[in-house]
Order: sequence, then structure tokens, then C-alpha cells
Amino acid sequence: MPESKKTFYVTTPIYYPSGDLHIGHTYTTVAADTLTRFKKQQGYDAYMLTGTDEHGQKIQKLAEKAGVTPKAYVDKTVAKIKDLWKLMNINYSQFIRTTDPEHVKSVQKIFKRFYEQGDIYKGTYEGWYCTPCESFWTETQLVDGKCPDCGRPVERAHEEAYFFKMSKYADRLLKYIEDHPGFIQPESRKNEMINNFIKPGLQDLCVSRTSFDWGIPVDFDPGHVVYVWIDALTNYITALGYLNDKPQLMDKYWPADLHLVGKDIIRFHTIYWPIMLMALDLPLPKTIYGHGWVLLKGGKMSKSVGNVVDPVELVKKYGVDPLRYHVLKEMKYGSDGVYNEDLLVANINSDLANDLGNLLSRTIAMTVKYFGGVIPAEQAAGEYDQDLKDTAREAIETYASYMDKLDFSRALQAIWQLIGRANKYIDETEPWILGKDESQKERLAAVLYNLTETLRIVSVLIAPAMPATAEKMQKILNVPDSVQTWESIQSFGHYPLGTQVEKCAPLYPRIDVKQYEKEQAEKKKAKKTQPKQKKQKQAEPKVPGVITIDDFAKVKMRVAKVLSCEKHPNADKLLVFQLDFGDEKRQIVSGIAKWYKPEELVGKKIIACTNLKPIQLRGVDSNGMILSAEKDGNLRVLTVDGDMPEGSEVG
Ligand code: MSP
Repeated sequence: MPESKKTFYVTTPIYYPSGDLHIGHTYTTVAADTLTRFKKQQGYDAYMLTGTDEHGQKIQKLAEKAGVTPKAYVDKTVAKIKDLWKLMNINYSQFIRTTDPEHVKSVQKIFKRFYEQGDIYKGTYEGWYCTPCESFWTETQLVDGKCPDCGRPVERAHEEAYFFKMSKYADRLLKYIEDHPGFIQPESRKNEMINNFIKPGLQDLCVSRTSFDWGIPVDFDPGHVVYVWIDALTNYITALGYLNDKPQLMDKYWPADLHLVGKDIIRFHTIYWPIMLMALDLPLPKTIYGHGWVLLKGGKMSKSVGNVVDPVELVKKYGVDPLRYHVLKEMKYGSDGVYNEDLLVANINSDLANDLGNLLSRTIAMTVKYFGGVIPAEQAAGEYDQDLKDTAREAIETYASYMDKLDFSRALQAIWQLIGRANKYIDETEPWILGKDESQKERLAAVLYNLTETLRIVSVLIAPAMPATAEKMQKILNVPDSVQTWESIQSFGHYPLGTQVEKCAPLYPRIDVKQYEKEQAEKKKAKKTQPKQKKQKQAEPKVPGVITIDDFAKVKMRVAKVLSCEKHPNADKLLVFQLDFGDEKRQIVSGIAKWYKPEELVGKKIIACTNLKPIQLRGVDSNGMILSAEKDGNLRVLTVDGDMPEGSEVG
């Protein structure tokens, strides 16, 4: 019997079909696809799962807003997600939807099993719920009264509910994590989970809801639906036929080799999910890798913040592979990456058009010019040749080791080192000079062979990250299928002699930077002249008491000259000021009579907040607030150091 292939099971998170996906989601899926293709190349039976997480209050609310049923809503958005993955050339093995009947059936059985074996009990939930994150929080976990994960407002929840006894498994989980160093990656995320969540003590998790019905019904207790994270996490096994009638793939692929997730959902994957698996007596996944975020100008890209970058638009403008290359290159291992269109354009022009594109077009042009497109000679082994071959060897090894570590950025860098070496080889060997001398014909053929062979190797190396580019290169170079494989690049020299190469157009046309800059400037200008739209909200900081620059900018403060000041007619503590702001005069009532006589501040320049809602203080209108500093019962009004005209802005 033939030996069965080694398997590799990789999953992406299942996405909320709550609107259009952005380039951040695209990163996760491109990374999973790249890794799957790499593993397949290496001879694995690699299986990639992706899909959609369709239940929950958030979806129900969105559907209500759109005036359709939740199912109609998700059907439409799921179709768009599938279109996006097609566009991005994602070759997934299975797309699971949590509304699939087989999944629903399995989740009901799993929930019942938890209940029957005493992992789940019925109680009452009292606390806070963050609908966008579908997360429960206790009062003490909130930060400034908001969701500690996303900083958005939470809703009070009070309902009968089922709870999972997480604490029962805490010690086992901790031991497992400590005994399996590769389980949570990168290392820093592991420490965060242990120190911030497991060691302080796991709380029982509320695992059912009764306040809405768009979820999987708890079949033994009508009115309850299964908490969306319990529903969602199980997709990784229900997709493999666990407790349902789908093809039975559990034996083949479980435990998963890798759950690829964003750092924001690593807690669910490294705490709740392993505990659920322990309760089901199933082995745990080998690695859970929490990648960073694709950031935009320092902030997280997110639909609710309104600063998303649409991958479809970018693909239309720049193509699929440049975008795949860009996100993989710019997301450094485990940390956040920045998306910025200037950088994308720079990467296309420098790495793709200049380095790779030129290497290919120069090699092909010279092969056509000097040999009619066919290289007849054997390889040569001079000084430069050997160095090129050594560099190819190293690049392959380095690339593979970084791919295995999920460091896609460094893996690509290794390929580009080889591309750089090959370009240098052209400068060193000067084929255009060899071409002028008939006696150097053999040497010239050897040089061009080495270059063509290097390009073949490069095409195999880039295939997982940029499949369409690899295919195009292999077509131009006429690389037979048998030498498009991982084995075929383990030694130099498998490009068949006598192969006819095809004349080609540039692999990647350069982007006209002047034109690009002009367009960007026009866009900016158009934005400025547009009537002001809703301003982009910044992600709210999670540090208690810290505000964003946008929050600060909301407070308008200006310099004012005190024209006059009188005692308040009805309150001893208050003074009534008449202030001059240059372009307007205002009356402000201030509670500083204890520290100032009315005449003391007249003529001085003070600072006042000018956009406070006007109020009446003991019957007198007050339109703003005078700023002062107070400590230990002493108070001083803030004045301006030096001469500033009335009305000057403070900030
Ligand atoms: N439905 C849950 C996942 C359940 S998995 C059992 C969910 N969905 S999501 O659509 O909100 O996010 C899916 C993935 O996209 C997450 O891994 C998340 O981290 C990732 N990203 C969302 N925004 C991102 C960036 N700006 N950058 C990188 N990844 C980001 O969470």
C-alpha cells in the first residue's frame, strides 16, 4: 500500500458577514492560502478551511436595519465574501457557514453533551454585553465603562442563561500551555494569556442568550440560543464531520496544525476553545498563531471606525499579486503592519517591476537576441556562477525555514535576495560584451542558462505567495510541469537545455509615480473642498483616562480680555465676567469669588472654554468657562504669558 501523505490542516477565522471585508481580513486569508500552497508544494495533503460566522445579535440588528431576515442578509454578504476570495485567488478546501444544517446539528449535540456531563449549568446572567465583539463582561472588567477589547459602549444584560465552568479546566489548560511551547505563537501572546487571564482566575462563561433568537437553538430548552463564540469555534471540527453527516475528515486532519487568527481573538482561541476541546475529549490544535493588525496611519482598520481599505478597489487598480505581495511583506512576524498606498506603489515599482520584472525581461531579451530564444550550452562553474548557485541554495533554505515559522515577510526577503544576486550577476558577467565576441558564445550561453535557471527557481519559490505571477513566469520560460516542483529546486540545473522561451511584455509595468502623486494630490484637494462629511472616528484608546487627539480637539479654548467683573446678585461664591474675544463678547459666570475680588482680574487676559453648552447659574446666563488651577484650597486663574490678541486659539 502506498504510504499516506502527511497532512496539514490550517484554518482562518470564520468572518462576520456584517458588510464588506477589508484589507485586514484579506491579510489573514492570503496568509493561510500562501501557507497551504507552500505545504502542498512540499508534498503535504494540506487542507484549508475558511468560512463565515453568521449568528449573533450583531447580525440580527444589521438585518433588522436593512429590513430583511437575518438569513437573507447573510446570504447576500456571504456571496460577496466568496467573490472576494475568488478575486484574491484563495484556493480554500472548504468554506463553512455556521448556518449550514450539519454545523447546526453538531453544535446542538456538543452543547447537550456539555450540559449532560455537568460542564454547563443554568443560572442568571447579570452584567454587560458588547454586541460588536459578542463578548460578556463584568463590571470590573470594563474600562471607563466601555468594552475593554474595542472601547465601544456596552449594553446591560440580565437574563436566564447557561454557564460553562471554565475554572474546572484552568489548571489543565495552564499545564498544557506550559508543556507545549509551540501552542501559542508568538511567545508574547502566550505570556499575555497566562498572566492576564488564566492566572488571575477564569470566570464561568455565559454560553446562551435569550434576548434575541438569531442563533442555534438549545434544543432541550426553547428560548435559549447558543452563545455565538461557542457556535463559531466549533466550526473547526464540525467542518470535518464531527457529530454530523458530512464527509468524515476528523481522523485525517484533526488536531489542526494551525489556527491563524488576529490578536484580537486570540483569547477565545487559546482559552475557551482548548477548554471546549478538553471537555469533548479531543486533542488540542498544534499551534494558534495570533498575527498583528493591519494598521492605517497608526489606528486599527475597522468597519466601525470607518477607515477601511477596500481590497477590491486596490485589486482593480494594482492587480491581485501585488496586493498579496504587499500585505505579506509589510506584516512583520507577529507585529502590526501598516497599510499605505504609497508603500504599495513603491513595492510594485521597486521589488516587482525593477527587481523581478527586469531580471526576467533582460534575461529573455538577451536569450532571444543571442540564441533565438533557445539556450544550447551546458552550465558553467566560474566564480560568479558558483556564488549565484550558493545564493540560490541559501535562499531556498532560508525561505523554507521562515515559511515554517509563519514569517512571510522574511521568507519573501530571502527570495528577493536571490533576485538581487541574479541582477548583480548580469552586471558582473556583462553578457552584452560577451555577445560581441564569437569566441565567448559558449560562456554567454552558460550565463544565460544560469539566469534562466535562477528564474525557474524563483518562480517555484514565489508560487505560494503570488500564484498567478509564478504561472506567468513559467509560461514565458516554458518550464515543464515536472520541474515546477519543490524537489526540482533542491539542486541547481533542472531547467531543460534547449527549451524555447517566449518573448514577453514586462511582468509588472511600472507605476508612473508622477501621475500617481498628481492623482493623490487631486484626491486630497477634492476631499478638502467637499462639504465636510462625518469625520473619521479614531479608535478609542484602551488606557483608562487617556483621550484621543480628536477628543481633545473637541474642546475649544480661546484667549479673552476681562472687560468687567461684578458680584453675582444671588450667590456669594460666583462672579459675573464680561469678556472680549476680539470678534465677540461673552458673559461667563465663574465660582471664584472666594479667591478674587471683582476688580482684580479686569484688564487681564485669561483663557476660557468657548464651546460649553450655555447654562444659567442662579438665574444669570453663563456662556463658557474660565480656566483655573486649584490645589490645597488655593486657586489661580490661567492667564497668558506675553501679549496674545483676544480670540487667539489655545490648544
Ligand atoms: N467571527 C469572528 C471569528 C470567529 S473564529 C471562530 C471574527 N470575525 S471578524 O470578521 O471580525 O474578524 C476575522 C479576522 O479578521 C480576525 O482574525 C481579525 O483579527 C481579523 N482582522 C480584522 N481586522 C483586522 C485588521 N485591521 N488587521 C488584521 N486582521 C484583522 O472575529
